[in-house]
Amino acid sequence: MKRLLIADLMKSEGPRDEVTIQGWVRTRRDSKTFFFLEVNDGSCLKSMQVVVNEDATGYADSKPIATGASVTVVGKLVPSQGKGQMWEIQASSLEMLGAADDSFPLQKKRHSNEYLREIAHLRPRTNLYGAVFRIRSKLAFAIHRFFNDRQFFYVHTPIVTASDCEGAGELFRVSTLDPKNPPLTEEGEVDSAQDFFGRSTYLTVSGQLEGETYATALGNIYTFGPTFRAENSHTSRHASEFWMIEPEMAFCDLAGDMDLAEEFVKSVIEEVMETCKDDLQLFFNFVDKELKQRLEFVLSRPFKRVTYTEAVDILLASGKKFENKVEWGVNLQSEHERYLTEEHFKSPVTLYDYPKTLKPFYMRANDDGKTVAAMDVLVPGIGEIVGGSQREERLELLLENMKAHGISEEDYWWYVDLRKYGSVPHAGFGLGFERLLMFITGVGNIRDVIPYPRTPGHAEF
Ligand code: 4AD
Ligand code: MG
Repeated sequence: MKRLLIADLMKSEGPRDEVTIQGWVRTRRDSKTFFFLEVNDGSCLKSMQVVVNEDATGYADSKPIATGASVTVVGKLVPSQGKGQMWEIQASSLEMLGAADDSFPLQKKRHSNEYLREIAHLRPRTNLYGAVFRIRSKLAFAIHRFFNDRQFFYVHTPIVTASDCEGAGELFRVSTLDPKNPPLTEEGEVDSAQDFFGRSTYLTVSGQLEGETYATALGNIYTFGPTFRAENSHTSRHASEFWMIEPEMAFCDLAGDMDLAEEFVKSVIEEVMETCKDDLQLFFNFVDKELKQRLEFVLSRPFKRVTYTEAVDILLASGKKFENKVEWGVNLQSEHERYLTEEHFKSPVTLYDYPKTLKPFYMRANDDGKTVAAMDVLVPGIGEIVGGSQREERLELLLENMKAHGISEEDYWWYVDLRKYGSVPHAGFGLGFERLLMFITGVGNIRDVIPYPRTPGHAEF
């Protein structure tokens, strides 16, 4: 008989005569003539309690069934006497598929997240990580739904690319060279210009530039894919490989971009709160007692919107002693972001109109000559989750910026073309998928919301 999902059985409206479940044993409790199993199949947070009496088929061979083993259970779904569950299964038959001995590392006790990172292949079998990764999946769907509902097209931008969108030089080189026998230059040095069958290529840091080419053809588009940054950041919010969502809209300015970012963040949080109630409850109860209130607060009012210049004034007026000095023109550090979101506004904040010296070549110059039409969304506890801008659509000004940033027109000829042929105002942003997931779950470390985190020096799996 086909297996049923525990998630569905938990919602059953009445008892059922014969059901089959398959999953992994979380715990076993023995009595004289029967025993209990808690079986989890990953479909939901809850495990199904199974009662196995001595008359059940398989009872005689059930000794080795222990925590971690995989089983098939057939039986009746009946109301449970136990606390916290509507239903349990009275087994008529029980079969072990794969044993697990007592070296199985997830015995019933709380493990630290640090320890569980070392067994990243087994951690999705815990309550916490099971919930994180179910929510991750639902969040991805909510994101696709959001854009699909608004007639944005999903564009797959390349992972291997020759361009450095952010111009920060944080690139992973993609090489096809044989390290033992590399091509050499006339000077006898490794000819890295021949990296990728004859040219230098890298893992993408952002799909934006390619996304712009599709926005200026299809109108509104978004990307959703892995991006890579070779920055040597050892923080709880940076990973070398992370997923980014990047909408790009033709005929749109910075105000429209900020509106979309806010609507987007709120809408997907709302959907996840609706579709992941049980899993989220775990985070509300055990990870962050203020999380629920914080999420509801975020949904209930507009984000604060202030210019970079106003933010600097607020920081200067705060009288706070920051480690990093604040003055107009510096990059705001996480202590500043925290002050703005957690102490001053106590709300997500959209900062806009940044000094042009802080930002990449593609951002649109404002009339003041000093700032660009950039925006970041900052949230309490995390800091920046969104970075975006209106793009420079004026050919002359773009070329000027490229020159100022040392970017060759030859390499970006296709990007420049967009300003030569039917140029339009356009804008977009990037949202860090893992950072949003951290915000929604209250999980404090990016390593705990991506299945196999890649951070400097870590890629064991
Ligand atoms: O601010 P960033 O660098 O912006 C861009 O890449 C633009 N090209 C986006 C665009 O306009 N289409 O990155 C965007 C977001 C950040 O706000 C942050 O949430 C996330 O990506 N991010 C990271 N997340 C995890 N680890 C890292 N190392 C990250 N770097 C950026
Ligand atoms: Mg940024």
